[in-house]
Amino acid sequence: MAEDLSDYRKSYEKSELTISQSENNPFEQFKKWFQETEAVAAESEVNAMTVSTIGLDGFPKSRVVLLKSYDENGFVFYTNYESEKGQAIAQNPNLCISFFWPQMERQVIIKGRAEKVSEATSTAYFHSRPAGSQLGAWTSPQSEVIPDREFLEKRLADLEKKYAATEIPKPPHWGGYLVVPTEFEFWQGRPNRLHDRLRYTPGGVHWKLERLAP
Ligand SMILES: Cc1cc2nc3c(=O)[nH]c(=O)nc-3n(C[C@H](O)[C@H](O)[C@H](O)COP(=O)(O)O)c2cc1C
Repeated sequence: MAEDLSDYRKSYEKSELTISQSENNPFEQFKKWFQETEAVAAESEVNAMTVSTIGLDGFPKSRVVLLKSYDENGFVFYTNYESEKGQAIAQNPNLCISFFWPQMERQVIIKGRAEKVSEATSTAYFHSRPAGSQLGAWTSPQSEVIPDREFLEKRLADLEKKYAATEIPKPPHWGGYLVVPTEFEFWQGRPNRLHDRLRYTPGGVHWKLERLAP
């Protein structure tokens, strides 16, 4: 059942990326690109990013999560610390996050190290979420094998009763990770597969900016 996809061909022509037009600081460059994407594609989960970790089995694994904040310290997402990714990060905090923004013909790849955000930050964010999401965090033993969907629905119903009249506390196993970048790559699609790739690596006081072959 071979499927030939070789006719999927797109010429990328929307923009270009040069060293002279780029910000010296990669966080500023990210912000510029993020805001430009939000302006044209806000409804399409601009903040969805792929997080790749090295698992306990030695294999890389990628999955999508939502970026919830970013600043010059790094990039924050929230998850279950006991999930497969949580266990992977506990063993090896080196990871990679990446964004693909097709509307802009752009990709951003960031290598970095994950560290847990403070309990206070996680708690504040947890309580900003809708009640259903807060209960979801308690309901789901993320990444574990479960017998069936009813298992989740029963747990949710029990938790709804338990917390009907009281504030839902943040589960101790749920919280944020801050990804502290060690390298950024900005990719802009260009015609004839001669794409623009600029990489920022730490270079003493300032970041070093170099062009990579596509
Ligand atoms: C658009 C989208 C957004 C998601 N956002 C999150 C998120 O913010 N946090 C999270 O833990 N999982 C999120 N998920 C689910 C993850 O992709 C993944 O299934 C889950 O975290 C379990 O991954 P793991 O078993 O590798 O740890 C999202 C999935 C999609 C498709």
